[in-house]
Amino acid sequence: MRHATFRQLRVFDAIARHGSFSRAAEEMHLTQPTLSMQVKKISDSVGLPLFEHIGKRTYLTDAGRALHEMCGEVFDAVARFEMAVADLKGLKRGRLRLAAVTTAEFFLPRLLGPFCRRYPEIEVALEIGNREQVLDRLRVNADDFYVFGQPPQSADVEAVRFLDNPLVAVGPVGHPLVGAGPVPIARLLTEPFLLRERGSGTRMSVEKFFADHGRHPAVRMELGSNEAVKQAVLGGLGLAVLSRHAIENTPGLAVIDAEGFPLDRDWFLLRLTDKRMSVVASAFCAHIAEMTGTPALLRWI
Ligand code: PGA
Repeated sequence: MRHATFRQLRVFDAIARHGSFSRAAEEMHLTQPTLSMQVKKISDSVGLPLFEHIGKRTYLTDAGRALHEMCGEVFDAVARFEMAVADLKGLKRGRLRLAAVTTAEFFLPRLLGPFCRRYPEIEVALEIGNREQVLDRLRVNADDFYVFGQPPQSADVEAVRFLDNPLVAVGPVGHPLVGAGPVPIARLLTEPFLLRERGSGTRMSVEKFFADHGRHPAVRMELGSNEAVKQAVLGGLGLAVLSRHAIENTPGLAVIDAEGFPLDRDWFLLRLTDKRMSVVASAFCAHIAEMTGTPALLRWI
């Protein structure tokens, strides 16, 4: 490996991520023959094939997988070094990678706004997905921090609660249950319900709440986003349970005062326990600690 160059590692990493030589060539602005030449050089240095081709797809061999893992560590270390050097020069500069569950898109940008203004040289990449998709990113150590409503229970991750996330029952303004005083669960469940897609954390909480009461809602429809659920409620298709953050500023939507609601939930910031914090990640942690009054986050710095 002593003869392998950083550029070869970058080329290899692009192919591994895309599972395709042509897409990697596009990303790296290289012709395919140049790309193949770089791959040949690096597999010669390793002494084993790094890819196998089945049909049109390119898969990593065991050696390729091990090399890809090492690339992640090398690139992380280089990025951390660059950020530390920028810090020594009096600049907070670098890249912060965040992944958050979909419902967090209703409040996270408001926390990020002041952070980006304070540190204009920090580039923030925020990936939004449902709970399952964010869990996948966590498994492959794709980001600096993750935002979850229900943190996974694992020894590899640390989670700190930083905000409330109450889940409320909602219906359209004018619905007989809106403003009807405390509505018993049994009455609530005589109405059709709209649920988020499988894999959604909100859906998990709703199903758990009703199951704990030995009941199941009559599901009229499953929808793939908070926005779609809200539109369906407004369209009179049924009631739903959503995060209070997700329904702010939605005229026509009203909270139903129902027994057992709001469901008390929280937002958690997560990180992989063994992940080394970059200067930029520390600055973000301090910012969230300050904005949300969460000193517990400072122990990560
Ligand atoms: P969701 O997650 O956007 O996947 O529903 C929210 C949560 O976990 O609370």
